[in-house]
Amino acid sequence: MASYLVTGSSRGLGLALITRLASLPKSEVGTIIATARRDNSAQINEIASASSGRVQMVKLDVTDESSVKKAVGVVERQLQGKGLDYLVNNAGVTDWSPTGLEGMDNLNEVLNVNVTAPHLVSRAFLPLLRKGEKKTVINISTTLGSVAMANAFRPLPTPAYKISKAALNMLTVQYAQQYADEGFTFLAISPGWLRTDLGGRRAHLSVETGAEKAVEIIQKATPKQNGKFLNIHVPGWEAPEGADQYDGEEIPW
Ligand SMILES: NC(=O)c1ccc[n+]([C@@H]2O[C@H](COP(=O)([O-])OP(=O)(O)OC[C@H]3O[C@@H](n4cnc5c(N)ncnc54)[C@H](OP(=O)(O)O)[C@@H]3O)[C@@H](O)[C@H]2O)c1
Repeated sequence: MASYLVTGSSRGLGLALITRLASLPKSEVGTIIATARRDNSAQINEIASASSGRVQMVKLDVTDESSVKKAVGVVERQLQGKGLDYLVNNAGVTDWSPTGLEGMDNLNEVLNVNVTAPHLVSRAFLPLLRKGEKKTVINISTTLGSVAMANAFRPLPTPAYKISKAALNMLTVQYAQQYADEGFTFLAISPGWLRTDLGGRRAHLSVETGAEKAVEIIQKATPKQNGKFLNIHVPGWEAPEGADQYDGEEIPW
């Protein structure tokens, strides 16, 4: 009965992740902490009220350290002495800079949400994760953060997003190195190009597919994978034309 905490659960991939987790048997998934920066999310409330207490909503603005600290206290009480097994740093934002780097105006904001915040949240939840059995932290990244693949994604005008996810990947490696001896597993996962507000309508995959495949990786994660950057596996998408493929393999940094 593993416990999960997902940031940015109000919509998109975060909402799909908690929906997917809540659909799995209690023997696999116990408490699901759905966090969102606003107090009231009708969609989270709906999932929570159908979950017999398994899904619990906690307010958490990932960029606000006092909100993070407060959330740790609330989650600690909810877990009633037990540890947290899985932390999923999902909340994220992108930029849209069609005029190129000269028009990139929100680099600090994007770095704050996509890099500094996963650090603040991971750091604050470490004591609860230490008490957990799985000790696993998932940073939701993207192939757009791969320096090795940068040429393939050159036409996409989201430089701040790409820079931030490359930094998130390095943050993942830094944590992986520091906490390996304690049995932690830190992973960066690319959930595929998904139809969400951030991914847009032309994306390859439904958000439900991305969530299902990401949960597959999360549930199978082991300390041997600590510090890796992993792709989801979607049958039929192993080698399509173009840069995106969902082959379940490691992604080059
Ligand atoms: N969609 C894709 O194709 C794709 C591909 C690869 C990776 N990803 C990654 O997947 C993650 C989720 O993306 P998405 O597509 O689901 O985006 P989305 O639909 O735009 O949702 C973003 C989520 O992040 C939350 N968020 C933003 N700033 C926050 C803050 N300061 N505190 C707490 N929550 C905050 C939003 O909350 P509000 O509702 O309050 O704004 C929302 O729940 C991101 O890390 C993204 O980079 C997405």
